[in-house]
Amino acid sequence: MHIGIPQETRVGETRVAATPETVKKYVAQGHHVTVQSGAGVRASVPDGAYEAVGARIGTMAEALGAELVLKVRAPDDAELAQMKRGATLVGMLNPFDTENNVRMAATGITAFALEAAPRTTRAQSMDVLSSQANIAGYKAVLVAAHHYQRFMPMLMTAAGTVKAARVLILGAGVAGLQAIATAKRLGAVIEASDVRPAVKEQIESLGAKFVDVPFFTDEEREIAQGVGGYARPMPADWMKRQAELVHQRALQADIVITTALIPGRKAPTLLHEATVQEMKPGSVVVDLAAAQGGNCPLTVADEVVERHGVILVGHTNLASMVAADASALYARNVFDFLKLVLDKEAKLTVNLEDDIVAACLMCAGGELTRAN
Ligand code: NAI
Repeated sequence: MHIGIPQETRVGETRVAATPETVKKYVAQGHHVTVQSGAGVRASVPDGAYEAVGARIGTMAEALGAELVLKVRAPDDAELAQMKRGATLVGMLNPFDTENNVRMAATGITAFALEAAPRTTRAQSMDVLSSQANIAGYKAVLVAAHHYQRFMPMLMTAAGTVKAARVLILGAGVAGLQAIATAKRLGAVIEASDVRPAVKEQIESLGAKFVDVPFFTDEEREIAQGVGGYARPMPADWMKRQAELVHQRALQADIVITTALIPGRKAPTLLHEATVQEMKPGSVVVDLAAAQGGNCPLTVADEVVERHGVILVGHTNLASMVAADASALYARNVFDFLKLVLDKEAKLTVNLEDDIVAACLMCAGGELTRAN
């Protein structure tokens, strides 16, 4: 099969969907690989590294014109126009974006959105949300440390003692847990909270204190379990109690990292303006939910702003700031997913009995296969 690796065109996107490691494997399987010239440069992979493992360096039209196109982000209209009818596309294609799914279906391609894979053990090696959120959680702490005008660790110096930074992490999924681990390595004192009570042990095992928002009803307890590894919107009463507790803890914190997401919906508000107003001057908030409307209403997507003396960081693509490793992990996710849809003769086989394949398939043969 002819596999194409185009350069990503979205502003700020530095990742690439295949690395020399995975291209070498595709070539060994008998595929022809065309990498658009410069596709890997922003992820520290020069064209020569792809050539050395058997890829051909080509133009954008050649890469997008392949039978199987591997991308990081959903193609825009100009990119879609260069894809062949009947071609297959694999990428992070925003499964909840119906308009985009309709656009892709109209071009007659078969498209797989990897974010839609179920959170099951078998799907772990192709879980792009996990591989990229892990990086975002790590980078969020480093970005916070960059904007924070004090030390992270406690220091005893001849000029006196410096207190350790207090970090509050809201949402302890993949990104939140990595943020805890990273802040811990930098010597911060950490508190963390999540709607799912199951994460208490994980938070504590990483050396952070669990901020417990109590459940008052069975309904609250039941909704908090989430579904398929994902959170569900919590009842208003619980959110009110959480806001009160977050308010208290945020006033003690120097850095707040928010990571709470609910798939396909606007992110829940966890840090209200009234809380930011009373936070210590020079505190830093990194809002990992900025692309989904933010966990704080003051966050501005893709900007760093100061409000009430607090710095709010709204980067929407932190993984792109660690482009080399983010690409390496993403490329392995893609490689593992392709094992499910390419048969021994390297032909595309869409087995809808396979729950991962069925979940990721957005469109085929001009038809939408996903109803949001
Ligand atoms: P996510 O990115 O969708 O959400 C981040 C975190 O925010 C979650 O922990 C969620 O519970 C929390 N959250 C949502 N609403 C909240 C609220 N109102 N207040 C406080 N916290 C709130 O989730 P992520 O990180 O992608 O995965 C969540 C969990 O899914 C993981 O911790 C794990 O248990 C499970 N998982 C399972 C996998 C597998 O088995 N293959 C792979 C990845 C995750």
